Amino acid sequence: MMQPFIKLITLLVALLGLTVSLVVGIGLVLFLSFSGVHLPSLSDSKPEELLATAVETPVVQALMDPASLWKAPDWTEMEKEPNAEELNYGKELVANTAEYLGPKGKVKAISNGMNCQNCHLQAGTAPLGNNYGAVASTYPKVRARSGKEEDIQKRINDCFERSLNGKALSRESKEMKAMVAYINWVGKDVPKGEVPAGSGIYELPLLDRAADPAKGKLVYENQCASCHQADGKGMAKPDGSGYLYPPLWGENSYNHGAGLYRISRFAGYVKVNMPLGATFEQPVLSDEESWDLAAYVNSMERPKKDLTQDWPDISKKPMDHPFGPFSDSFTEEQHKFGPFKPIKAAKSSTK
Ligand code: HEC
Ligand code: HEC
Repeated sequence: MMQPFIKLITLLVALLGLTVSLVVGIGLVLFLSFSGVHLPSLSDSKPEELLATAVETPVVQALMDPASLWKAPDWTEMEKEPNAEELNYGKELVANTAEYLGPKGKVKAISNGMNCQNCHLQAGTAPLGNNYGAVASTYPKVRARSGKEEDIQKRINDCFERSLNGKALSRESKEMKAMVAYINWVGKDVPKGEVPAGSGIYELPLLDRAADPAKGKLVYENQCASCHQADGKGMAKPDGSGYLYPPLWGENSYNHGAGLYRISRFAGYVKVNMPLGATFEQPVLSDEESWDLAAYVNSMERPKKDLTQDWPDISKKPMDHPFGPFSDSFTEEQHKFGPFKPIKAAKSSTK
């Protein structure tokens, strides 16, 4: 008499069990895919490439464990410093350079309307946003570009003369002192000599082919032109005091002696920062797109600079410095666009 009833109950329980596990299973998959619980997506890097770069760049290893990335000190700590006013002024100059030192600058007109922050995101504190994490700990240092020992003042003026296509700021000026104080403060917790993971620019894995400006143009039109404009000249603020969207080429952009003119710097910067809002964890561009964009943007017209005093030891030129003479037999074209692997291999075999 009870038998069919028990069978029915058993069947129902089994069905219920199945439904619950299905729901939980699907839920878990959805949760994992939306919650960002995944290894950083290095989209088109092959595992062996990843490993190769991981060896060179502690960044890649650290990114597997984001907690180990460099972080700037808390802004609230700045207010407690005895020279808080100077530090705040330094930060303000980095963030809104044009307002003080641009073409209509209220202190002095010595630069092109860009802000330091356009390239050193969040006033030089963003992880992998070309931050100042390693400056206090590594300067003064001998730089191969000038072949001389450079202090922070000299390095800042390098960016004024190249990235902001302008003039050097007097070392004794209130503005220079404030910027140096601020940049030192940003890196104050890094032990001398150390380069913390996540400082500077991300090292993008090298491609097996040359970067392609024609492909880059298409990506530019889809992903960048909405802000930086089809003509690359950015969008000026209505009052002309600076930019809402900074220029990527043209007369008010960085000149061809600037760091971003090397396509590895440009590609590494945009991969993890552009379009605005992209990050290492959530990149928008693939590695190939980043390289191709760099090739396109750096093929457009921009101000020139006399570079004859640069790289006194030509064997120290980086693989992607695009101007000869070189200590190897690769062409200017290959030094500009790649493929870079053979250049790197030749370099390491002569060491
Ligand atoms: C157009 C982009 C751009 C602008 C604008 C810019 N910089 Fe830079 N800056 C760079 C690049 C690229 C590097 C080299 C980064 C690298 O190769 O790791 C750099 C390097 C530096 C460094 C050395 C960092 C290090 O770890 O060695 C300092 C300091 C610096 N910039 C300060 C400034 C200041 C101050 C301003 C504003 C007056 C400024 N920069 C404006 C692109 C820019
Ligand atoms: C939503 C608007 C937006 C889009 C889209 C965008 N950018 Fe930017 N970009 C900005 C802003 C704003 C800055 C300056 C950031 C700051 O000052 O904090 C910037 C800065 C830059 C810089 C450094 C400053 C300079 O002018 O040289 C580069 C290089 C750059 N972007 C490249 C790109 C590339 C390449 C793309 C397309 C993949 C892109 N951006 C897409 C808004 C955008």
